[in-house]
Amino acid sequence: MTRVALEKYLAEIYNTMRTMGLFITTGSARINTATISWGTFGHLWNRPLALIPIRSQRYTYGLIEESGVFTISVPRKDLGNVLSQAGTLSGRDHDKFSELHLHPAKARHVDTFIVADCGLHLECRVIYRAPIVPENLHPAIDKEIYTGNSRHTMFYGEILDIYET
Ligand SMILES: Cc1cc2nc3c(=O)[nH]c(=O)nc-3n(C[C@H](O)[C@H](O)[C@H](O)COP(=O)(O)O)c2cc1C
Repeated sequence: MTRVALEKYLAEIYNTMRTMGLFITTGSARINTATISWGTFGHLWNRPLALIPIRSQRYTYGLIEESGVFTISVPRKDLGNVLSQAGTLSGRDHDKFSELHLHPAKARHVDTFIVADCGLHLECRVIYRAPIVPENLHPAIDKEIYTGNSRHTMFYGEILDIYET
């Protein structure tokens, strides 16, 4: 595997995540994709890393827990409407790839798929998971973000590959 060139794509990944959102895809027998607009990309434990918060009620959460892998696809055209829907519908009762006319393609290194409609992809395997616990979070943030909602689990994904399609 070639060295992962995260630094080359950091600004693009961050800007797209904050302006439009990214697809996080998991599952193999049953593929699912959802939208994320929070996350951090950097370097930890000698590895390029994607740190992604997923709330425990998401279908995506169970699929990541089960498989230990996910991909992130970064759109290079306006897929804002599709991302809004992927971020509203749940894979529990919707086949989002088919309903939103998205095209899955086999990931190269992990047992799941990428969203082929996007131009840039990250393949990740979970190397650490950390459920957010209120005792360790600033109370103001806990109150602002989590009142009445399940808290996130932080998935630390080692980025095994980044590539353009
Ligand atoms: C713009 C946008 C950003 C989102 N970011 C996140 C996120 O960072 N983490 C998360 O758990 N859910 C996030 N969501 C919500 C999920 O995408 C949404 O609940 C989705 O329906 C989950 O699908 P699933 O049940 O198939 O996993 C976001 C939704 C939108 C529209």
